[in-house]
Amino acid sequence: MTDQQLVAKAFEMLERSYVPYSCFPVGAALLCADGTVFTGCNVENAAYGSTICAERTAVLKAVSEGHKDDWQAIAIAGRGEDYCWPCGSCRQMLYEFAPDLKVLVARGNGDFVETTLSELMPHGFGPKSLK
Ligand code: THU
Repeated sequence: MTDQQLVAKAFEMLERSYVPYSCFPVGAALLCADGTVFTGCNVENAAYGSTICAERTAVLKAVSEGHKDDWQAIAIAGRGEDYCWPCGSCRQMLYEFAPDLKVLVARGNGDFVETTLSELMPHGFGPKSLK
């Protein structure tokens, strides 16, 4: 799967977002080594703190389906003018399983940039920190 195709899957997920409060849909697509893609969208809640982000939806789907050691890349898409950078909680959650993950961050006009989780989260706290 190309980067462009993974980003396209993240954009497709915008339609599934449940965002009655923020009206800010986010989509994510997490690619595994065997080609499996776990998608996610943000799902908001009337108790705002119970909202879950798109990236963490994808993470939970992957881990609960047995994929946690083979992540290759995640694409994140929003409809805004700015790139849809992952929030701190999502960075932390991703860091647990793939500190060097490739991250593709897209904005509403379809442009995307490539970075890495280690670049987005230098000196992160992860499983190794507890040893
Ligand atoms: N959101 C995500 O889905 N991912 C992020 O990394 C940043 C924020 C969602 C949460 C909420 O539904 C909306 O965007 C506005 O914060």
